[in-house]
This record gives sequence, C-alpha cells and structure tokens, in this order.
Amino acid sequence: MRKRWLVAGGLGFIGSAFVRMVIQTRPDIDVVVYDIMSYAGNPANVAVVADNPRYSFVRGDIADEKGLDDAVGSGVDAIVNFAAETHVDRSIHDSAAFLRTGVMGVHALLEVTRRHRVPRFLQVSTDEVYGDIDNGHSFEADPLRPRSPYATAKAAGDLLALAFFTTFDVPAIVTRGSNTYGPYQYPEKLVPLFVTNLVEGQTVPIYGDGLQVRDWLHVDDHARGVLHVLENGELGNVYNIGGGNGRTNIEMTEAIIRLLGKDWDTCVRHVRDREGHDRRYAVDTSKARSLGWAPQVDFIEGLAQTVSWYCENEAWWRPIKSGDFRAYYERQYATR
Ligand code: TYD
Repeated sequence: MRKRWLVAGGLGFIGSAFVRMVIQTRPDIDVVVYDIMSYAGNPANVAVVADNPRYSFVRGDIADEKGLDDAVGSGVDAIVNFAAETHVDRSIHDSAAFLRTGVMGVHALLEVTRRHRVPRFLQVSTDEVYGDIDNGHSFEADPLRPRSPYATAKAAGDLLALAFFTTFDVPAIVTRGSNTYGPYQYPEKLVPLFVTNLVEGQTVPIYGDGLQVRDWLHVDDHARGVLHVLENGELGNVYNIGGGNGRTNIEMTEAIIRLLGKDWDTCVRHVRDREGHDRRYAVDTSKARSLGWAPQVDFIEGLAQTVSWYCENEAWWRPIKSGDFRAYYERQYATR
C-alpha cells in the first residue's frame, strides 16, 4: 500500500527539494503539496516532478482549517510543514504575516492533524530559535531565545507542536535546520542574491562588518534530514539538522566571488547592519546523527554546484528579479 503525505509549503525552497526527493526516490509515497503560492512559493520549483501521477497540488493557506480538511480528504499518513514566511529582513519591516503563518497556521495544521488522527506531524523549524551563540553549539534542550520577529514566530510554531504532543498526544516531531543553500532559493537570501547580483554585474551588500557566522547546510542534506527524522525520529522530540560548515559572511562572499571569477574591491559594498543581527549560529547534530542521518554534500562542491546552477538557470531567477522583487530590493537596500 502506498502512503500519502501532505507537504505544506511544498513549493518553497526547502519544501520543494523535499518533494522532488520523495517523488524521485520513494515510489511507496504519494505527495500532496499544499501551498498558498506566496511570493516565494513557485510552481517552477517542482516542475520536474509535477507530471508524476504520485504528485498532486492543492492551493491553500495553512491558517485555513477548512482548506486543510479538504486537502487531507479521506486521510494522510503524515503532514510535513515547511510553510512559513522565511526572511528575517522582511520580518523586521512587517511582522504580522510571520505571526499569522508561524502561529495560527501551525496551530491550524496541528488541529487538523489531531482531528484526522494523522499518524505523524513534522514541523520544520530553524536553528534561529536558539538565538545567537558566541561559542560552542546549541543543543535541542537549550532554552529558546529568538531575537527577530521571524525567529520568534518560528519558535512559537515549534513549541506549539511540542505542546500539542504533550497535551493532546498529537504525534509531533520538530527539526531545527541551519542556514540552507542550494538551487531554487528565492534570491532575497545571501547566496542566491549575491550570485545573481554578480551575474547581473551589480554589487553585493554585506551587512555591518560581515563577521557574522552561519552554519551552511545543503538543501538536499536538509531535505534528507527531514525525511529521515520523519520516518525514524521519536515523537515529541526535537532534532537539530546542521551542515557543520560554519563560515563568516565575508568568507561566503569571498568563495562566491572566487567561483564567479570576480574581483572583491569592485563587487562588495559594506552597508548598514541588520537591526538585532544575530552574530553566530551553530547547532550540535549528534541527536539526528544517532538516528542514522548525516550531511553528505561537501561544502566546497555544494557551493560550486549551487553557483553553477544559478548561472545555468537564469530562466528561473530573471523573471523573479524583474517582478515584485524590485520594489522589495529598493525598500530593503536603497537607504542602507
Ligand atoms: P540570510 O540569507 O538572510 O539568512 P539568515 O538571516 O536567516 O541567517 O542571511 C545570511 C547572513 O548574511 C546573515 O548574517 C545576514 C547576511 N546578509 C548580508 O550581509 N547581506 C544581505 O544582503 C543578506 C540578504 C544577508
């Protein structure tokens, strides 16, 4: 018997990598993508699997329980939630949408999971819920100290999932992933923004001194981690998923500039720092590793392949950068 999974936010960056992976490698699983098609939810992200009979799509909002009920239909074997507003800078300008999706949206998903007795619910969270950490690594049991509206909304959804496990026996599991890079990432984020700006002959804006550290994880390793935890994790538990590739933003920028054969002095612009900018994230991943997951993508190779992907797929990102993105870019960077 084939299984049927509902993947909320399956048209986004990490969600679509998960969907492509499941459709391409798991003939035992049907996928129903449930996605509102916001600015970052792009059908082109799943175009390579959209014709597969095991793939189907429902347009809907995770905060809409009725819509979710209809999508679950006669039942699903798991709900995986990738849906969220995801960009920290946008959450600084306008936080309401983040709370709606991150709190009420996750709540609606949990209510539907409970009512339909779905056997598994996985909430995709982030290492940003721990807040920044000067030294060492964040462990799953560490206190949460989110410092941006984005991270706070994610922490709320993450804790709500655990509260539903404790209170109502909803079979919830949480993953906390680190900064993710790879193909199909909306070009507001560091890696795709910098690569595409450089290809367009523009400069790249580094916030503040650029010595902030992020732990970079390839999107395929992230998707594999979510899949592995979904099938092997213990209910009511949290699992960190990190790449183990701590790099400063300056180091990331240098690597990208080198891969594109550009010159630092003419390409880089230091701009005003992000408000409340977290200095460093780093997660301990031994718990997920003890389940049998480990990142597989070598960082240098993964970054090189990612840069090549954006160079070879201008048809994917050029329409994005010429649309609403322009107004966003202007608002975000013009006065920096
Ligand atoms: P980002 O990709 O927005 O991810 P997050 O904020 O979730 O970590 O940013 C990664 C790092 O790069 C972060 O420290 C902010 C920095 N950054 C810049 O310096 N300039 C930029 O234009 C962007 C988008 C990010």
